[in-house]
Amino acid sequence: MRLPFARQIQSVKRFLPRSLLGRSLLIMLVPLIVVQAVALQLFYGSNQVVVSRRLASAVAGEIGSLADSLQRFPGNADRAWAMALAVQNLQLAPQFQPGATLAATGEAGHPPSWTIQGSLAAAMDEIVHRPFQLDWDSNDVNVVVRVQLADGVLETQVPRKRLFVSTIYIFVLWLVGSAVLLFTVAAIFMRNQVRALRRLGAGAEAFGLGRDQGPIKPEGATEIRQAATAFNRMQERVRRFLTQRTALLAGVSHDLRTPLTRLRLAVALLESHPGLQDDVAEMTADIAEMDRMIDGYLAFARGEGSEQAQPTDLGQVLLDVANNARRAGANIALDPPTDLTIWLRPDAMRRAITNLVDNARRHARHISLKVRHQGMRALEILVDDDGPGIPAAQREAVFRPFSSGAAGGTGLGLTIARDIVRAHGGEILLEDSPSGGLRARIVLPV
Ligand SMILES: Nc1ncnc2c1ncn2[C@@H]1O[C@H](COP(=O)(O)OP(=O)(O)O)[C@@H](O)[C@H]1O
Ligand SMILES: [Mg+2]
Repeated sequence: MRLPFARQIQSVKRFLPRSLLGRSLLIMLVPLIVVQAVALQLFYGSNQVVVSRRLASAVAGEIGSLADSLQRFPGNADRAWAMALAVQNLQLAPQFQPGATLAATGEAGHPPSWTIQGSLAAAMDEIVHRPFQLDWDSNDVNVVVRVQLADGVLETQVPRKRLFVSTIYIFVLWLVGSAVLLFTVAAIFMRNQVRALRRLGAGAEAFGLGRDQGPIKPEGATEIRQAATAFNRMQERVRRFLTQRTALLAGVSHDLRTPLTRLRLAVALLESHPGLQDDVAEMTADIAEMDRMIDGYLAFARGEGSEQAQPTDLGQVLLDVANNARRAGANIALDPPTDLTIWLRPDAMRRAITNLVDNARRHARHISLKVRHQGMRALEILVDDDGPGIPAAQREAVFRPFSSGAAGGTGLGLTIARDIVRAHGGEILLEDSPSGGLRARIVLPV
């Protein structure tokens, strides 16, 4: 049973980045943003609101005292003195408009109290006790504050600077700047690590597909270097093992040739003896078969030896195989694919497909050779025939070396074919063919 919570985690996971780079940057970024948001909230949310409320109160208090003075001393000289004082000491630029009245103020619509506008309006309400208007729009540098007096309107220009605390911008800039810096450094660092890892992965993949690209240069963090070094050592061991096996096979086959030749000569001498003819004929046939087997081993050893994978036109390989089979009298159908160039060891692959076609030729009349894509990452080569096929239970056994029951076969054909295909990172399968006989299917990664 899955809990709903687990299901939620699953659905969140779908949106998370899949790559190592994306994930590690996310791991960096999320705590960074949370910490900075908390810091910002602590600073702006509490400190900043308190400070701006006090600034607003101070401005409102000054305007209130000025308004009170003008009201208390209505004489022209007194008023001029009070106004001059405001300009000089309070940085307010007051103006008196005698006889004017404020347009009806919509008292209800104060902006929210945590904004600067709101806190000034609230402070005016609280301190001045007269009808007032705040004009934030007509001027970029100043806020225009109008207060209704008994005999006119007092208009003051209050510099916006007196209401704002500019440190908040520096603080935000600092937060954003440090976040960007941290993120950039982390991104560059991580990308290098990830690149090293990715190169290691690509190297391992290529080696598995039989594309030998030499040792991987160890780079990145210690662990990644260690992995690369270990991979290089493994690559070297595998290569040495393959070379040894091939050399052994070639050596044994080669060494068998000499005694076999001697044997053939000796048997030829026996031929003249009366009454031995039948035995000699049998022995000669056996020797010929051993010769063929040795040819097979040598070809196998050679094929594995030095050939390098290279971009190869698979259509051309198939055409070669089909043409050779036709020359030997086979009835083979092929629609060669166009433009199918993949990484292959062409001689080895030609040999593998030839082995399959040879088998089909031996057991069936009609052969068909096809290629088709299998998804994005693989393609398959099909060799179909209309012969007796192989019972499902024996399909694994025929891949074993020397499995042949038939005279004239070495029992190595399928072994070699599978070996070659696997060295390309692929697989070879035997199935029922739609045309009645055996289908050999080679699946190759591309
Ligand atoms: N297309 C086929 N139809 C029927 N039997 C097959 C086919 N291909 C292979 N076989 C069986 O599998 C055995 C092994 O094949 P292979 O490894 O090529 O060795 P060989 O061809 O030398 O006998 C064959 O001897 C044969 O019995
Ligand atoms: Mg064969």
